[in-house]
Amino acid sequence: MTRIGILIGSTRPGRKGDQVARWVHERAARRGDAAFEVIDLLDHPLPHLDEPLPALAGRYQHGHTRAWADTVARFDGFVMVTPEYNASIPGVLKNAIDYLYAEWIHKAVGFVSYGADGGTRAARQLRTLCELLQMGAVTPQVSLSLHTDFEDRATLTPAAGRVSALDTLLDHVVACSTEGGAATPTQRETDEAAIRRRVDGIIDAIKSRDLEGLRRLYSTDVVSFDIDPPLQHVGLDAKLKNWANVFTLFQEVTYEVRDLTPTVGEDVAFIHGFGRLSGTLRDGTAVGGMWVRVTFCFRKIDGEWLITHDQVSVPLDILGGKGVVDLEP
Ligand SMILES: Cc1cc2nc3c(=O)[nH]c(=O)nc-3n(C[C@H](O)[C@H](O)[C@H](O)COP(=O)(O)O)c2cc1C
Repeated sequence: MTRIGILIGSTRPGRKGDQVARWVHERAARRGDAAFEVIDLLDHPLPHLDEPLPALAGRYQHGHTRAWADTVARFDGFVMVTPEYNASIPGVLKNAIDYLYAEWIHKAVGFVSYGADGGTRAARQLRTLCELLQMGAVTPQVSLSLHTDFEDRATLTPAAGRVSALDTLLDHVVACSTEGGAATPTQRETDEAAIRRRVDGIIDAIKSRDLEGLRRLYSTDVVSFDIDPPLQHVGLDAKLKNWANVFTLFQEVTYEVRDLTPTVGEDVAFIHGFGRLSGTLRDGTAVGGMWVRVTFCFRKIDGEWLITHDQVSVPLDILGGKGVVDLEP
């Protein structure tokens, strides 16, 4: 079913944003043509944008970015609820939008604004911003006035006509978000982005020596054909023991990947490329590492892509019986 996220654009204590989002959600929940969920930026306390690469690159370094990306990626369209702050949108909303790219583009979005004059200047800016992100911004809009739609400028009591304006906005957002709509990314594209984020998760967890972070990426029955003996490492504990050994050997460790190529099915997927582990050993020796061939195989388990198999190898000099470890991708 089409999923629409209702994003609350303000986070300050005592905000009215949650009242407005609740009103939108209550009305939307009566419909049967989509599933609606409130997205609260308080659940995603993002620092000022701290990703070294622009979101366009799609390589998120920080766990908070990936968690935010996972949330946004789950939705086919959005209703953004924004107040007007100094004739614009709240900084926290702009920051949250700037963090991502692929998770926004080609998705429908509608705007519910509020402020002394309906927050229309904020809505206009948000529309421009979303259009730059190649989102499909629907024309119908709801603008709530602090004077006429809030009792004592505090409690939301929407004036006559607001409900039907909201219904029209929702009609458009749902229609433009529904699968088959020209602007909607395919399930395969969504899954491919999720799988790439899993590999980013490996890189991040290795760099921060985060065994618990790695644990979340594998299925419990993972079978790993890792580079080192034995022939296979069976089960999550065996896989994590391998990573623990790496963290014992290395004082600082980095994992790089190149040429990642995903293939995605409905609930099975794999991605292959080249990987290199390098860093500094406990005794201070710098280790440049070697490029190896790597394949991660995933199954979608309870809606989450988990690694159920990985394969790491180097080419073999057949006559000499030795691995060739000095090749570059
Ligand atoms: C920093 C700040 C700037 C504001 N600037 C405007 C403004 O330019 N125009 C307007 O209509 N209301 C403005 N307001 C009033 C807000 O629209 C109103 O307080 C609204 O409830 C804020 O949303 P929130 O309660 O969800 O934070 C401003 C409020 C704040 C906190």
